[in-house]
Amino acid sequence: MLEQRSRSYESDDEERGACEWCEYALVITLATILLIGVSALTVFWVIFYREGYGWADDLPEKQFNLHPTLMIGGFVTFSGFSVLLYRICRCFRRIYVKLLHAIFHALAFPCIVIGFLAVFDFHNKKGINNFYSLHSWIGFVAMGLFGLQYAVGFFSFLLLLICSKGTASFRASLVPIHAAFGILTFVLGACACLTGLTEKALFTLGAERYSGLPDEGVVINVIGVTTVAITIIVMYILSRDRFKSQTSDRRISVEL
Ligand code: HEM
Repeated sequence: MLEQRSRSYESDDEERGACEWCEYALVITLATILLIGVSALTVFWVIFYREGYGWADDLPEKQFNLHPTLMIGGFVTFSGFSVLLYRICRCFRRIYVKLLHAIFHALAFPCIVIGFLAVFDFHNKKGINNFYSLHSWIGFVAMGLFGLQYAVGFFSFLLLLICSKGTASFRASLVPIHAAFGILTFVLGACACLTGLTEKALFTLGAERYSGLPDEGVVINVIGVTTVAITIIVMYILSRDRFKSQTSDRRISVEL
């Protein structure tokens, strides 16, 4: 009787384990598709509706097009993957996940710098004021936080390389702060993308045409909705304790 009951508990556990694994596989796959999809759709929008890319005095509009593409690539796709790596690579040693995290941020960094220079130079060429809009203010804060996070992450990684054991507790105390600001930067980046897309739709299509929902308006809205979906799914994945690394907490604290 006792044996029968323990066998039924075991099968319950197995079923729950299988469900959790399916949920994990589903959300990670969905997040991966959306993260790549949003950048692919932005490239499609720019090439199909906005005449593609360029960087020359007589092509300021094409130069502007680098801005949304690189900002979405840097702040959403690369940063999104960088954040999710701690959940995707659960079986890797933490040091390798950290390295991958740093590599994805290192890919985001030039995207954001060039993306910003593209719009800054575009404004100067067209004689438009800098930093006048709500979008540019949100973007400025997001970029500032990204830079700060990058510096703190680099510093703690450097400490890890120089003196792993002696700096462990200091580095461990930085982790929750770095994680909280990382989420904030990601959400602010998404807000900047949404305000930027709205602004661009109104500037280029005009309020009247945009309200008629032309094809281009639909594409812009889909890019925005995908960004919202990514934010929701990334927050969901981060909030699920069960998606965390299988490495024991003790080993994590030693390897930080
Ligand atoms: C996280 C992503 C983004 C950040 C951090 C960001 C940041 C900025 C900043 C700082 C400016 C002001 C540049 C200046 O005044 O010289 C700007 C301008 C602009 N951005 Fe973005 N941007 C982002 C994404 C986007 C996206 C996806 C679009 C969509 C097309 C967009 C559209 C615009 C437009 C139209 C301007 C010129 C008007 C203005 O200054 O508000 N941005 N952006």
